[in-house]
Amino acid sequence: MICNLKEYDCWFQRRACAPLARLLSSVGLLEQGLILENAAMELRALLTKNFAVLSLAAEGKDAGTLIGTIAGLNARLGLELPSTKAEGFVIKVSGARIIIAGQDEAGALYGIYRFLSLLALDKIDEGIEIIDAPATPFRSLTHWDNISGDVVRGYAGKSLFYKDGRVDYDEQRVIDYARLLASVGINRLAIGGIFGTGPGQLLITEAMLPDVARLAALFRPFGVKLLLNVKFSAPYTLGKLATADPLDAAVAAWWKERADLIYRYIPDLAGFVVKADSELEPGPFNYGRNHAEGANVLAVALAPHGGEVVWRCFVYNCVQDWRDRSIDRARAAYDIFKPLDGAFAGNVLLQVKFGPYDFQVLEPVSPLFGALSKTRYTLELQVTQEYTGQQIDLCYLPYNWERILGFDTRYGLRSTLRELLVDGEIAGVGAIPNVGLDHNWTGHPLAQANLYGYGRLCWDPCLSAELIAREWSALTFVDARVADTVSGLLLRSYPAYEKYNAPFGVCFMVTPAWHYGPNIEGYEFSLWGTYHRADRFAIGIDRTATGTGYVTQYAPENAALFGDPATCPEQLILFFHRLRYDYVMKNGQTLLQNIYDTHFEGYDEVKQMLELWKGLKDWIDEPTYSQVLARFECQLANAREWRDQINTYFWRKTGVADAKGRKIYE
Ligand code: GCU
Repeated sequence: MICNLKEYDCWFQRRACAPLARLLSSVGLLEQGLILENAAMELRALLTKNFAVLSLAAEGKDAGTLIGTIAGLNARLGLELPSTKAEGFVIKVSGARIIIAGQDEAGALYGIYRFLSLLALDKIDEGIEIIDAPATPFRSLTHWDNISGDVVRGYAGKSLFYKDGRVDYDEQRVIDYARLLASVGINRLAIGGIFGTGPGQLLITEAMLPDVARLAALFRPFGVKLLLNVKFSAPYTLGKLATADPLDAAVAAWWKERADLIYRYIPDLAGFVVKADSELEPGPFNYGRNHAEGANVLAVALAPHGGEVVWRCFVYNCVQDWRDRSIDRARAAYDIFKPLDGAFAGNVLLQVKFGPYDFQVLEPVSPLFGALSKTRYTLELQVTQEYTGQQIDLCYLPYNWERILGFDTRYGLRSTLRELLVDGEIAGVGAIPNVGLDHNWTGHPLAQANLYGYGRLCWDPCLSAELIAREWSALTFVDARVADTVSGLLLRSYPAYEKYNAPFGVCFMVTPAWHYGPNIEGYEFSLWGTYHRADRFAIGIDRTATGTGYVTQYAPENAALFGDPATCPEQLILFFHRLRYDYVMKNGQTLLQNIYDTHFEGYDEVKQMLELWKGLKDWIDEPTYSQVLARFECQLANAREWRDQINTYFWRKTGVADAKGRKIYE
């Protein structure tokens, strides 16, 4: 059987039939509510479309399937459904009835999507009872779309929301996007761009707020609340005040007034996202103020409305002189934000990039995690594949996110990022999405797995990347043989990408600005502060206590672990240490030989992945097959370029040949 992928529908593919069709043919809802009614509508529509069950609005209590809130169903039907956490749900299947009940309206919606995915995976049987709830309340995506319609670091076509300087969208497509987000539990969406060129400024004017309100209304029935990216300098640029100084009374009044105006249009706005003092964006430093002072003025304005300020910690000196060795960019976020722990208002959420640099393929987890104990903060990831192959190369990101979530900060007893999230010490997760107007949403059809995986991991950070890969593949590719091969490809893809990229955590050997493909010294003499300082003998930055001191920002056990090359995880060793090329690694080979080996291996892996894909030719529809094939071919060319440029570079530096005699270009 040929697997006929409807790419637009992502993980909602058509199935032959559904078990329990008799019970599913009538779906009853006994309560009212915007999200609840949408949940019932979604369930009926998707049962009809994907499972060929004609699902009708039904006769109250007698319906085969009942949806509602736990409290509502208990009261109306005399049930004793257990209560769960906010946004959680209970699914109960008996021979006589199916019940999908939410702790609240959103919970019921999440329950119906979970039910549908279990149905598709053939995991709904009589007698099952599932109780589940999200680990964390804040599960967000931040769009970097500009009002021109271009998407910053977007690899899947133009913006879903803007065109030619206006808010302009295909309403059905936005609804379909809201469904995708809700189906994996995303409940916050930030719009408004990140830079001066972004629409953040204009969206909060009376001219555009009605448009934003209309967008918010499309997301609302799916439990997704909007956030707005705003510019710190807005009181000055928009409000025409003389300053945007956060301690200026007129500035505080301006923000308050603006917040009041915005909430008249969007009463359930989740708040603002701010990128301040970051990569030349204006911020509190312009006025000699610190970041708590900067964030708090916005927090005070939003507080009466229940809004939050998501304040990004991506702050560093981006006009560094490469000659100056006294600055280490990796230290910046901790140096700036740790001393302010406890100084932020209660409705500020600091958003911390997972690593100290910038979404690199291999970099350590930021030392801020676990170190902030009096401040609410979130983990920031990147779903769009900026440094990870730009949706040309297959790169399954949950593989890395699982590693990040498993990082043990060594603060307290339950101290991995996943435990901190589950326990509420980390207040949520944010990321930049990978979607655009391309018909298949993500450019590379298999990059849909990253969006899916992001939502699933926010919901349950204890899920494994492997389980998510299998789940997504089985939902997306109805044929089991195809699904198996695809999940295998996903799981191989990140380690392969890592191997042909910058070696052992040294980072930034990528083409400047564009960030695809190798350029080994592209950042070496730039302003951005990301240097590897390779010479004839050695490579890497000494970030130990006697070097830049970065390692001392970690809890003592981790400082010791990373600080000693003998115990430092080898895949990150060049992030922490400057090593000679003849440094002997755990496998008995030199650092140089390991660089050669990993780069040959990375390329070979891609070659094998391409062959595996070719093996699916007769099992998958032609357009999907060819599209992915074309991308694998580009990936192979990219891996070849990385392999040869890296190997040649180090061969030229050292004059030491590959011990295995493979071809290295002169
Ligand atoms: C990266 C990216 C930028 C983006 C920045 C951010 O540096 O290249 O385009 O602005 O991240 O996180 O804000």
